[in-house]
Amino acid sequence: MSVIERVIVRFAGPEVLEWCVVEDVQVTEQVIRHKIINDEIIIAELDGQPIGYLRIEYLWSNIPYIGVIFVVDDYRDEGVGSKILIFLEDYLRSRGYDVLYSSSQVNEPEAQAWHRSVGFVESGIISGINEGGIGEVFFRKSLT
Ligand SMILES: CC(C)(COP(=O)(O)OP(=O)(O)OC[C@H]1O[C@@H](n2cnc3c(N)ncnc32)[C@H](O)[C@@H]1OP(=O)(O)O)[C@@H](O)C(=O)NCCC(=O)NCCS
Repeated sequence: MSVIERVIVRFAGPEVLEWCVVEDVQVTEQVIRHKIINDEIIIAELDGQPIGYLRIEYLWSNIPYIGVIFVVDDYRDEGVGSKILIFLEDYLRSRGYDVLYSSSQVNEPEAQAWHRSVGFVESGIISGINEGGIGEVFFRKSLT
């Protein structure tokens, strides 16, 4: 069986809290605990070991937005990111959402290229919002 066939994508539970806290340095453990309870963290697992992560946010509490998505270095370019994204999109559709937002720093061309290759289109920039005055470019993807 190929790696991607063996990868399981699911919502994170308390058993992976520690891994999430180590890997997602942008938020506190308290935030991650809260988000796990609310089905706002998705992981990809290979043989029981997490290898991919996605944190969901909701703009104004009702517009879904990818806070962060990553796949562990050794497992990139094998379809794991897409499998996580498909899981999220199916979940959001089942909850009645028709659009998904995401973003990346303006100085990260690879992350922007990934967004475009998986169907996001650019939807604006917030200048200077990151450390060092770096801007953030936003993307949207229709779920219909
Ligand atoms: C971006 C990321 C999550 C993609 O996950 P992945 O498992 O490597 O991606 P996949 O193998 O599922 O590839 C999905 C598609 O994206 C494309 N892709 C992947 N990385 C890409 C990149 N850096 N630039 C352009 N396209 C890319 C693949 O070619 C593939 O396209 P295809 O379906 O037309 O063949 C992963 O590379 C990563 O963790 N990057 C570092 C963190 C990051 O930049 N996150 C995104 C911004 S928050």
